[in-house]
Amino acid sequence: MHAIGVDIGGTKIAAGVVDEAGTILAKTRRDTDPDDAASIDAAIADVYRELSASYEVRQVGLAAAGFVASDRARVLFAPNIAWREYPLRDNVAALIADPAVRIVVENDANAAGWAEFRYGVGRDVEDMVMLTLGTGLGGAIVTGGRLARGAWGAAAEIGHMRVVPGGHWCGCGHQGCWEQYVSGSALVRDARAALVTRPEQAAGLLALAGGRAEAVTGPLVTGAAQAGDPLAVELLAEVGRWVGEGAASVAALLDPELFVIGGGVSAAGDLVLAPARKAFGEQLSGRGHRPEAAIVVADMGNDAGMVGAADLARI
Ligand code: BGC
Ligand code: NA
Ligand code: ZN
Repeated sequence: MHAIGVDIGGTKIAAGVVDEAGTILAKTRRDTDPDDAASIDAAIADVYRELSASYEVRQVGLAAAGFVASDRARVLFAPNIAWREYPLRDNVAALIADPAVRIVVENDANAAGWAEFRYGVGRDVEDMVMLTLGTGLGGAIVTGGRLARGAWGAAAEIGHMRVVPGGHWCGCGHQGCWEQYVSGSALVRDARAALVTRPEQAAGLLALAGGRAEAVTGPLVTGAAQAGDPLAVELLAEVGRWVGEGAASVAALLDPELFVIGGGVSAAGDLVLAPARKAFGEQLSGRGHRPEAAIVVADMGNDAGMVGAADLARI
């Protein structure tokens, strides 16, 4: 049976029809406004209508960038989207208005991690942690072959572990969250700051952005780094360093075999991963006396969330 998976991020939704082998048969997307929750509901119903016109589907998995309740129906809270105790499943069900369709809500990073575990780079391990570096920093924990959900659904909200006391403010209302150092948003914030604080080194980035700070995006920084721009390389290495430092703390808690790095920023590959591996090694307790987790890039790119959401909708 085919299922639809919808990945709902900070600024866009991506949806696909997915078969039982995790293969995407059709895809579509919409840009969305994170401050307008009702418009996101409408966009989800719209992509459902588009995809279900050509495929018969009874299950819909919604991968939401927020704290999803264990009822798999509500988003309790989201740092980067206007969801508070939000009845996402019921709102979308009312718009779709087909009682034969079952809808479940999952956390977006949990969905992506589940897809990597089932079909991707984690398919041969039982213990892995996924990190998704996008608007926020998402996490998924697979331990002993099971997705950790916690008592109330909000396990693996790894982006909100404090890594810097008194550090950058986070959308969750606290300071120094890991997300503020390891995400596409953090990368863009630091790149734009460098335009002002380090104008000489930032001249290359500014030129690529046509002289407009707002035009500096994560992919632009990554492209510049791949072309050898030293500041862009440094900015990505800084993200990587924070990935590794935080991962060492996560290893103290969970001892995974694999850290899977996904989300938009993972497109930078070794520009992020090499510094991540270095910092991880430097920070890991008991190093040399214990097996060490590998830090690898996700297999499924930006499709992991939709594939995982579709798969979880069948469970
Ligand atoms: C949210 C998570 C989400 C992650 C990635 C974080 O800010 O708290 O729920 O998984 O961003 O979208
Ligand atoms: Na998660
Ligand atoms: Zn936070």
